[in-house]
Amino acid sequence: MVFRRRARRMRWLGCHRLGPIWKALLVFVAIAFTGQLLGFFNKSWMQPERPRSVFPLSSDDGHGSPMGPCRPHTHAMFLKTHKTASSTVLNMLYRFGEERSLRFALPLGYQFGYPLLFNAHRVKGYRGPRMVEFNIMGNHMRFNKPEVEKVMPADTFYFSIVRDPVELAESSYAYFKAVAPAFKRAKGLGDFANDPRRYYDPRLRNNHYARNLLWFDFGLDHNANYTAALARRGEAEIRKSFNLILVSEYFDQSMVLLRHALCWPLDAVVSFSLNARQPKPAAGGSWGSKANLGAALALTDDQRLKLREWNALDWHLYQAFNRTFWEEVERFGRARMEAEVALLRTRRDVLARVCLRDGGKPVEASRIRDKTIRPFQSGLVKILGYELHPSLDNSTRQACLRMIRPEIQYKDLLDAQQFPRAQPPPGAAVAAGGAPIRREPLAPKIGDQLGGNSIERDWDGTRLGRNVSLPVRERDGKDRFR
Ligand SMILES: *[C@@H]1O[C@H](CO)[C@@H](O)[C@H](O)[C@H]1NC(C)=O
Ligand SMILES: *[C@@H]1O[C@H](CO)[C@@H](O)[C@H](O)[C@H]1NC(C)=O
Ligand SMILES: *[C@@H]1O[C@H](CO)[C@@H](O)[C@H](O)[C@H]1NC(C)=O
Ligand SMILES: *[C@@H]1O[C@H](CO)[C@@H](O)[C@H](O)[C@H]1NC(C)=O
Repeated sequence: MVFRRRARRMRWLGCHRLGPIWKALLVFVAIAFTGQLLGFFNKSWMQPERPRSVFPLSSDDGHGSPMGPCRPHTHAMFLKTHKTASSTVLNMLYRFGEERSLRFALPLGYQFGYPLLFNAHRVKGYRGPRMVEFNIMGNHMRFNKPEVEKVMPADTFYFSIVRDPVELAESSYAYFKAVAPAFKRAKGLGDFANDPRRYYDPRLRNNHYARNLLWFDFGLDHNANYTAALARRGEAEIRKSFNLILVSEYFDQSMVLLRHALCWPLDAVVSFSLNARQPKPAAGGSWGSKANLGAALALTDDQRLKLREWNALDWHLYQAFNRTFWEEVERFGRARMEAEVALLRTRRDVLARVCLRDGGKPVEASRIRDKTIRPFQSGLVKILGYELHPSLDNSTRQACLRMIRPEIQYKDLLDAQQFPRAQPPPGAAVAAGGAPIRREPLAPKIGDQLGGNSIERDWDGTRLGRNVSLPVRERDGKDRFR
């Protein structure tokens, strides 16, 4: 929203009419000027406001309403759904667990065998049902309750997050266009929406990104045609498994509910938006190679309705859990919610000023000097990241770094901490303390040239087959992709 607003403002200022050189010059001047300005401000009034106690170490955070006598939950399972701001939530789990030396159920790579259904043996260090106490689990998986229960303790708090399926489709299209055959063939998302069945073949690998992606991530059959009874059954199954379903569109309210459900301190749920994509350029705007993205994502009202219909199972889930979410907010208290959201936002602003260069303006990955905090790039859009304020004392720097460390690097770090003698995994990008241990930056991009073949990679660097592969019938009679 903020991004879009900014894009609109840019257009308003007439930026689209300037040539690329002028634009570059203008941007350069603006950055230089802002840098000077902020540098001055930082010295004059930031210094006294940046004491060692910005991040209190005790679990009583000192800000936020008192949590009462509750004990923080340390058994949590987050189903990380796709394109729902879930990377930001995962970062919170990583931080909370790292600060308290909790044990994570980590995948061998970066996801738990996705898009296959989750299997306990995908967890690194798993040695049979509940042989090892795992505290937190949150990497991408296709949910499979019986297998998750083998890994996580019985009192685990299960939660996830949903998003409006139309918004989700936009994001999914921008991110997975090159890997989902249904999206690849369409001229744009609108074109796809007009007649999805023309482009969609349920047998093709990665097409789950193009239909009922939430439903799929929850482990349900996303190709089933909608009926009210089926939708209700799916919803009921999810309700049985999950303690709380958050809503992406109400992210801050979600964080307040989450923190109270888990009895976590305010700082645990304060975050900067991670894995955000660059603002959508105007249709036909002069954005170089991204020129057509705005047009590709443009939707008429009619097309939005069609997408809703196409993703009818997801639309059902979204409405149902949105309703429940607001019932929870009622129970929590509207006024209390407003006060806590205000507190959260204030805290976020403070931390952004303390931690981030330029007051927290997200920047393109290529402009982030420290390669170990460059976010992974994938899809048609640039994924933005942050830079740390250059003059932080060590402990503040560490705390700030935790908040902006991209998920791949963070997973590598936790992996290294949890399995200190093991070899770093192939994608290892950082060692403890954020020092690079790999010489090259982890920066596979779509269209990477490798052996003369253009290969596609998922967000985590795993190769995605360019060509189609048909599902294989496995022993349990289910069709799976290998
Ligand atoms: C769902 O409906 C479409 C169109 O009405 C039909 O072609 C398809 O076979 C149906 N799928 C299933 C799994 O019943
Ligand atoms: C979600 O709930 C809010 C609050 O009740 C409501 O304003 C909004 O329209 C709902 N969204 C959908 C898509 O149902
Ligand atoms: C702070 O960091 C520097 C360089 O990273 C290191 O040399 C120094 O020992 C650290 N100081 C403390 C108190 O941790
Ligand atoms: C898919 O790619 C593999 C390896 O690149 C190749 O061996 C295979 O023939 C391809 N299959 C199709 C259907 O193009």
